[in-house]
Amino acid sequence: MYRIAVIPGDGTGPEVVIEGLKAIEAASKKFGFKYETKEFDFSGQRYLKTGKLVDDSDVAELKKYSAIYLGAVGDPNVKPGIIETGVLLKLRFALDQYINLRPVKLYNSAFCPLKDKKPEDIDFVVVRENSEGLYKGMGEFKDKGTKNEVAIQVSYNTRLGVERCIRYAFEFTRRRNKRKKLTLCGKTNVLTFAWDLWQRTFDEVAKEYPDIATDYAHVDATTMWFVKNPEWFDVIVTDNMFGDIITDLGAMIQGGMGIAAGGNINPEGVSMFEPIGGSAPKYTGKNIINPMAAICAAGMMLENLGEVKAGRAIEAAVIKVVNSKLKSLAAGKMGYSTTEAGDLVVERLDK
Ligand code: IPM
Ligand code: MN
Repeated sequence: MYRIAVIPGDGTGPEVVIEGLKAIEAASKKFGFKYETKEFDFSGQRYLKTGKLVDDSDVAELKKYSAIYLGAVGDPNVKPGIIETGVLLKLRFALDQYINLRPVKLYNSAFCPLKDKKPEDIDFVVVRENSEGLYKGMGEFKDKGTKNEVAIQVSYNTRLGVERCIRYAFEFTRRRNKRKKLTLCGKTNVLTFAWDLWQRTFDEVAKEYPDIATDYAHVDATTMWFVKNPEWFDVIVTDNMFGDIITDLGAMIQGGMGIAAGGNINPEGVSMFEPIGGSAPKYTGKNIINPMAAICAAGMMLENLGEVKAGRAIEAAVIKVVNSKLKSLAAGKMGYSTTEAGDLVVERLDK
């Protein structure tokens, strides 16, 4: 019996989460696993009403769950940074979800902004470090508000943190069993402390994986290759900030935020799965947002829980719907409402 903590969140979060839960229900009937859900109202909305973010007792409660399914958090009426750090990053850090796993897979060339790229050309996974780097929040102001002001933002990289991420990436590449190639994406030519540690750790760990081919790409060049030669990539491992940036580009080449899903993973603890787009305030309540990213996140969650067949069946159903039904992956242009798009996936799963 899986216990799934559901955080619908803000904006279109609740709308897409409902569709993901429909897919999970259909998959549970088909594959015979049991689960229960409990809803948590962490959100910008709740913050505006009560001033509450995620606190330590919330974290303790969430630790009792098998996984967390998150819609989106963020409200335009809250100053930028508060919900991000107080809810999303708080959960990632407090639950030590040190991997952010972001598959970049094109399901239908019609939805790719790149000319002549086919699904077989865009099929890679970014393993983003999710607990350190610039996201650590270390730094200071000096002489704040004066003309001599200095703002320092530190990228904090520990050997243990870097190594566990790199090891995960090697193991993942082996398990994925595609091209068996792992690319380290960094900036060794300029960020000579952090990326020296990353490169050394990568090279050392690589020795234990003779079956995996390794490669290195600077982050700026990586963005170029995402556009020019995405077929070069199998698995990419990178730090928190670079991973954040390149996965937005990754989302676009796979068809947009409507399809991009990710997992915040603690391999030894509680992981959290989410569509990687935000709360999309302008589409809220209109029943036009694309739920596929959230449904894919649900599939990733099941796969991660060990329900591999169920997770893959959800992905296969999404692929079928994306290829045979949807006119576009963009909100309002699918040719179907959010609810109808979710129903199409369920129908497919029921077959
Ligand atoms: C993401 C988002 C978050 C991040 C924000 C909302 C804090 O952009 O999940 O990629 O920067 O990690
Ligand atoms: Mn991001």
